[in-house]
Amino acid sequence: MKTPDNTGECSTPASTGSGLTGWIDRRLPVVSAFRAEYIDFRMPRNLNWLWNFGAILTVVLLLMLATGTFLAMNYTPTSAGAFASVEAIDRQLSGGWLLRAMHMTGANLFLAALYIHLFRGLYYGSYKAPREILWLTGLILLVMVMATAFAGYMLPWGQMSYWGADVITKAVGAVPLIGATLEHVLTGSDHLGDVFLHRFFVLHFLLAFLVVAVVGLHVAAVHFSGSNNPLGIEPKTKKDTLTFHPYYTTKDLVGLLVFALVFSALMFFWPGILTEAANYAPADPMHTPADIEPEWYFLPYYGLLQSVPSKFGGLVVSAASLLVLFALPWLDRSPVRSARFRPICRVGLFGLVAAFVLLAAAGKHHAEGGWMLVGRLAGLYYFAYFLVLLPLASRIEKTRPLPSSIAAATQGDA
Ligand code: HEM
Repeated sequence: MKTPDNTGECSTPASTGSGLTGWIDRRLPVVSAFRAEYIDFRMPRNLNWLWNFGAILTVVLLLMLATGTFLAMNYTPTSAGAFASVEAIDRQLSGGWLLRAMHMTGANLFLAALYIHLFRGLYYGSYKAPREILWLTGLILLVMVMATAFAGYMLPWGQMSYWGADVITKAVGAVPLIGATLEHVLTGSDHLGDVFLHRFFVLHFLLAFLVVAVVGLHVAAVHFSGSNNPLGIEPKTKKDTLTFHPYYTTKDLVGLLVFALVFSALMFFWPGILTEAANYAPADPMHTPADIEPEWYFLPYYGLLQSVPSKFGGLVVSAASLLVLFALPWLDRSPVRSARFRPICRVGLFGLVAAFVLLAAAGKHHAEGGWMLVGRLAGLYYFAYFLVLLPLASRIEKTRPLPSSIAAATQGDA
């Protein structure tokens, strides 16, 4: 970038590179920018394996875009042709089964990695100042990824695609005043068919690429504020940090290899764990399945949806469970970030994970009797954690003493 020097002249930052990279860099300093952000960039020295998930998410996102592009080349977005085109990808297209298996396993593990990544942020207080915008861009990504995954699940036009779409479009239709219009915008006609599928195909494709743009913002925000760390204290001196390369490039690579092993094991040996048998039957508007349930990653929200008697109420509560995360940096006012030093917050957070799992279990069962009660209690705890427990703990919690520096706390590892 040209910057004015003290004589008022514009100068270009000196580039140390020679040859082609030096030539490019003197004209557009992408090489030195890359060096500054990914090689010499200083990171806290104490990041644990939970910090691998950002890199894992980035790589899986690229895999999803690559496999999705080839799947789209062979997919037919019509209610008469969709199911058969997906079957043809699986059975006739050369290597098509692998493309589809990677895309389906990728979708499931992407969401799993996303939940772990989010939990890491909750546990170590990475949403607190000065990382609020980083947190908000992450949440925007979460919503976008969920919408992309939902739209993608419609595309094979199996029984669960159809009936899942039926539940959600009807829930949207229950919104007072504008519900009917919203429902029509989604379905495009008076029934779930060609127009709906075509719209969701475009939405799926488009959102996936928009996610890449928001990831760019998100990662820029990480580099601007610097990474948080398990102690939740800022690095003070050079001794508290390490360069990104070779320390974290190597650590990310190890994380990616372990993740690739889990990915391959699931994809090749246990594909049935992540797929719903009912979606291997073509959509049939005349035959409602005994149980309509979404993919596992939507179950907690479905549990909330079911635990409220009114359709609109259920929709509001499910949406609120995501919206409350946006307010988190302002609900939790404690000056201490990491839950390691916050006894109340730490116990409360494990309770939150338990509530999330229980909501998923409630979502998997019929909304009646004991499961209805479990769903309601877990839902109540979920909201109470954010709206009551955290704000209260910020005031009354007796936090454990913080170490004087990262280097001092990790001396044993040095
Ligand atoms: C497409 C999805 C996402 C991608 C590709 C992504 C990518 C990344 C990357 C590469 C990093 C830096 C490495 C790391 O700290 O792990 C990062 C950090 C971070 N992300 Fe994400 N992210 C995504 C979604 C989210 C979501 C849903 C949230 C939560 C709301 C989130 C919150 C954060 C936070 C708070 C940090 C900084 C953590 C710290 O330094 O302690 N991200 N992300």
